[in-house]
Amino acid sequence: MAVGGEFNRGLSPWSGRSVLVTGAAGLLAGWVELELLESGATVLGLDNAWDGPRATIPPEGVERIDGDIRNTPLLRDLLADRRVDTVIHLAAQTLVGPAIEDPVGTFSNNIEGSWSVLEACRATSGVRRIVVASSDKAYGDASGRPYREDMPLRAHHPYDMSKAATDMLAQTYSVTYGLPVAITRCGNLYGGGDLNWSRIIPGTIRSVLLGEAPEIRSDGTFVRDYLYVRDAAAGVLMLADAVGERAEFTGAALNFAAGGRMPVIDIVRRILKLMNSNLEPVVLGLPLKEIQDQRVSAARARRLLGWRPRYSVDAGLRETIAWYRTHLKVPA
Ligand SMILES: NC(=O)c1ccc[n+]([C@@H]2O[C@H](COP(=O)([O-])OP(=O)(O)OC[C@H]3O[C@@H](n4cnc5c(N)ncnc54)[C@H](O)[C@@H]3O)[C@@H](O)[C@H]2O)c1
Repeated sequence: MAVGGEFNRGLSPWSGRSVLVTGAAGLLAGWVELELLESGATVLGLDNAWDGPRATIPPEGVERIDGDIRNTPLLRDLLADRRVDTVIHLAAQTLVGPAIEDPVGTFSNNIEGSWSVLEACRATSGVRRIVVASSDKAYGDASGRPYREDMPLRAHHPYDMSKAATDMLAQTYSVTYGLPVAITRCGNLYGGGDLNWSRIIPGTIRSVLLGEAPEIRSDGTFVRDYLYVRDAAAGVLMLADAVGERAEFTGAALNFAAGGRMPVIDIVRRILKLMNSNLEPVVLGLPLKEIQDQRVSAARARRLLGWRPRYSVDAGLRETIAWYRTHLKVPA
């Protein structure tokens, strides 16, 4: 299933650049790749699960590379042989539940994987800009205060900790080795192409399309800051461009969020309303080991990068629902 859409940006600094995207079959990667291709970049996409059930088929033009981010020699060769200018490191085991069931697998994948990507970049002189995806979850529980970039990273749960470690590794490589690396800390992403049905937005949309009541695993009160994936993709690319041009971005971490924070029950009800559905959500009330309340301030990205979300939650949800209506094969 391919992502799709129109970006129209005219002359772009990305034209002619060779870009390696890790986690290239994932949600955010699909939209980053689309924007890069439309801007004239050459896109190499690395993933270790191109044929997996959750893989999004990349936009036409992405060169698919089968490989694991922990394979440092493979990365090193790729960066050198293909004269890679930019590395956008998005690959990760991103699901919270599987991380709790298999913390070591998630640590190995996300932490070792990240040092491997950074180490390959360190060994290759041609890489001029690197963006590493951390997460708002790296901050841990801030008792409902909005996350700001000067707050300490106090993650406790396994996935969250793996992102905090990724984040700190990126900072280490920038401070100690001078790598031109910047870090994104996005709120909860949603958008077309996400086939992770355990995530609340795709899971709810699919349930409604199937005529089934959507399930909420928690008690519905967990607050999340939702960000449409195309706004996130634009932020990633603005930051990647900036880190290659302006020294102050080296080692910088930036939050990205749309201010669309709300309890899980509310986002589910919004989707039901936008889909004209009378279904009632089933609230399971499971005791989840997750942060209760996440709010993200994107003031720094606005100030330093001039980034702005272009989509309200409703506008992003409308596009997302339309994507699933088009691409999901629902039995009649
Ligand atoms: N989805 C969100 O809400 C969110 C929020 C904040 C940050 N992030 C971060 O942004 C990045 C992208 O998130 P997403 O939701 O698009 O992810 P995703 O789960 O949709 O895709 C991740 C991709 O990485 C690949 N991958 C995993 N381990 C790999 C390995 N060892 N080698 C090669 N490929 C591997 C997977 O096969 C998958 O295609 C991740 O680093 C994630 O932690 C995501």
